[in-house]
Amino acid sequence: MTLILSLHPVGQIIAILFACYAAYLGLQRTKSLHFGKTTRFYRERHVITGSIALISMLGGIAAGSIMVNRYLLSPDMSLHVAVAMIILVLGLFGIISGFVLYLIPKQRRLLPAVHGINNLVILLLALVQVVTGIMAYMRYVLHL
Ligand code: HEM
Ligand code: HEM
Repeated sequence: MTLILSLHPVGQIIAILFACYAAYLGLQRTKSLHFGKTTRFYRERHVITGSIALISMLGGIAAGSIMVNRYLLSPDMSLHVAVAMIILVLGLFGIISGFVLYLIPKQRRLLPAVHGINNLVILLLALVQVVTGIMAYMRYVLHL
């Protein structure tokens, strides 16, 4: 039981680490796009790490909900769930806008900026999830 209830927390932490790396790569693009600096942007690497991050975060929402429905008796996780619902909406926008930027390349400033801010907000919300998630893990999985 502890093992299966640890899949979601471990998977989401790995997804967040991918998101941190994607953000670091994306911010290199910010320097050249908005601040006139010459930097190298690893576009493919950003797309791959960003996709892994966002798709596994969204998959993790489903996984977490299934685990709770199957193995936990109505735990009190309202903040964790509310933030997850915001991440769900922003995550879909992040993936769709990312693919538009990647597959239809042209000179743009607004869409990349909105995409970047949207995804950096996801990263911040994901850090909130780490705090409420660890609290839930200690309470409902480890029974501490
Ligand atoms: C956690 C995930 C992600 C983060 C934190 C992130 C962050 C960023 C940031 C900060 C920028 C620079 C935007 C600017 O300064 O105006 C950017 C650009 C870009 N992102 Fe993402 N991104 C993520 C996921 C994705 C995904 C999933 C894709 C594609 C499927 C993608 C494709 C792109 C592309 C193509 C650009 C360059 C846009 C251009 O050169 O005009 N990103 N991203
Ligand atoms: C992007 C980050 C995350 C999202 C979107 C997310 C989302 C969710 C959702 C939707 C649930 C189901 C709650 C319910 O139906 O009542 C859940 C359960 C849970 N979450 Fe998260 N979560 C994230 C990260 C984390 C992290 C980092 C941890 C711990 C380190 C964590 C720990 C838990 C635990 C312990 C549960 C109970 C089910 C289980 O153990 O599988 N979560 N999460």
